[in-house]
Formats: sequence, structure tokens, C-alpha cells
Amino acid sequence: MSAVGRPRPVVVEARAKVNLGLAVGPRRGDGFHELATFFQSVSLADTLVVTPRPRGFTLRVRFEPAAVRGAPPAAGVAAVPAGDDNLVLRAARLLATRRALRGGAAFSLVKRIPARAGLGGGSADAAAALAGLAAAYGVRLSRGERVALAAELGSDVPFAITGGTALGRGRGERLDRVRLARPFRMVIAVPEWGVDTARAFRALDRIRKHLTQWGANLRSAQILGRTGLLAHRALRLGNTFETALGRRRGTFDRLKRRLEDAGATDVHLTGSGSAVVGLLPDGHAGAEVVRRFQGTEALYVVRSRGHGLKLIGRS
Ligand code: C5P
Repeated sequence: MSAVGRPRPVVVEARAKVNLGLAVGPRRGDGFHELATFFQSVSLADTLVVTPRPRGFTLRVRFEPAAVRGAPPAAGVAAVPAGDDNLVLRAARLLATRRALRGGAAFSLVKRIPARAGLGGGSADAAAALAGLAAAYGVRLSRGERVALAAELGSDVPFAITGGTALGRGRGERLDRVRLARPFRMVIAVPEWGVDTARAFRALDRIRKHLTQWGANLRSAQILGRTGLLAHRALRLGNTFETALGRRRGTFDRLKRRLEDAGATDVHLTGSGSAVVGLLPDGHAGAEVVRRFQGTEALYVVRSRGHGLKLIGRS
């Protein structure tokens, strides 16, 4: 075992992500889809407390409302598994097995990122569990080892480990760091309905319309990623999932319009949805857009951040 020193409690801030543009390509032999997207860490975050204990892993989840307006969607709250399926426990067991870790941990998760919204909340928690447990036990992991373990847990988990701004390709796990030319603020609207990502990909497969655009979208993303990235340029790549919304199309269009009427720009789905994000005008704190917004969706105001995880050691 590579653990050093006495185990210590650790607190990890696990930030949400948004997708600034998301182009989906063909389905691969392994069932995953090729994609090109700019991942961006934002200030909305869950908090994971890791308290070492002699053996076994436990998890307690507490929900804390973080919306500036409206309630967090009940569907998103109910969708967070507190049992063995939770990504925190899966991440802990994965690290413990691979590194022959003898000790256990009690995890306490304060959940603020809505689930099934395309904000990468579960992935952020998994990344926090990997990094937090490693720090608690002094397990040394190279960046490469961390990212490889993360990829076993989900397509978005490698980005949750590295954070900041990155062009994601492959199934989302191939990451190239990108320089964000200017920090920005966003408003995020989370509707009552949530999205099952696997089903959203299957809906795209049935339509197949996106495949004609894939080559051009991939090239545009690669060109955009070469210089300092501007959020509005990346968002103009669009989001392929908007082409396969089915009966939700009208609901999405109306929400987009209401966000634009309130003053947000470049409004798009993040991930496979259901959250819809829009940029706030430069120098705008968001209060005005929130006040003007007509609707019952939960609203969050966030800033772009340079990291996905923030480890805070406790002695
Ligand atoms: O990797 P993750 O567990 O987050 O993916 C959830 C599901 O979304 C996968 O089982 C797969 O069906 C689909 N997916 C995909 N292509 C990707 C990422 C996810 O088809 N690039």
C-alpha cells in the first residue's frame, strides 16, 4: 500500500460543469458516442466530507437549496441514489480495491447540484471521492492514474477531476486543456423534468440527423480550442441534444425565449439537459436577469472557475 502518515479528515468542494457547445458524433462499437464539447467548471458546488474510519464505506446525503430563485426540482433531488449505486461509494470502492487500501471512510455529502440536469453533479461527487479518499490516506496518484480511474466511473468524471476549461473528445474522457480568454457569469434554469442520458443518446440514434453536421462541428471545436476561448463562441457550436428533444421541444423553446427576454444570451442545453444555460451580459451580476425572468424553474447564477475540485484538509 502506498499510503503514508496518519489518515486525516478531508473536505472537498466538487464543482458543477456546463457544456459550452456539445456536438455528438457516431455511435461506436462499444456503445458510446464520439463527442466534441467544451467543458467548463462553474461555481455551483457540492461539498464532500471524508472522515477516515477503520473499515467500510458509508454515505450520508443532505440536500441544501442553492437556487437564487425557485426550488430545486423535486425530480432531481429524488434521483440522487443514497445507496450502493451512489458514485461516491463506487469511486471509494474502486480506489480501495486498486490500491489495496485497508481503511474505510464515512462520507457526508452536501448536495446542491441538481441531478439529471446535465450539470455533472454525480461525476463531480465521484471525482471528489477519489481525490478526497486519496488525500485522506496519503495515497499518491499521478494525474494519469486519477484520470484513468475516473474514466471507469463515467464519461464526465475525468473532466470533473481536472476541471477548468477543456475540450473533451472521445466519449468525453480525452481532454485538452483550453485557455478561457475571459471569465464569465451564467444563469442556469433547471426545469421540473430530468433527463436520462442513455435514453437521450438513444433518441439521437433514432433520428441520425446530427451525423451530417458532425465533421464540421468537430473541426470548428478544434479550431476554437487553439486560441483563448470565448464562451459565446463555444456556445454557438450548439448542442446536438436540442435536435432530439421530442415532446419536450416546445417546453425548451419557451424556456429559452423567457431566458432571452430576461436578458440572457447564447441560451442552450447543457449536457443532455434538462438544465438550460445562458450568458449574462459582461459586468452583470445576474440580479436583474433573475428579477425579470418569468417562470417557476429553479434559477442559479454561477461564475466560470479555473478548477473542478478544491481540497480543504482538516487536522
Ligand atoms: O459514461 P456515463 O455513465 O456517464 O454514460 C451514461 C450513458 O450515456 C452510457 O451508458 C451511454 O449509453 C451514454 N453515453 C454515450 N456516449 C457518450 C457518453 C455517454 O452513448 N460519449
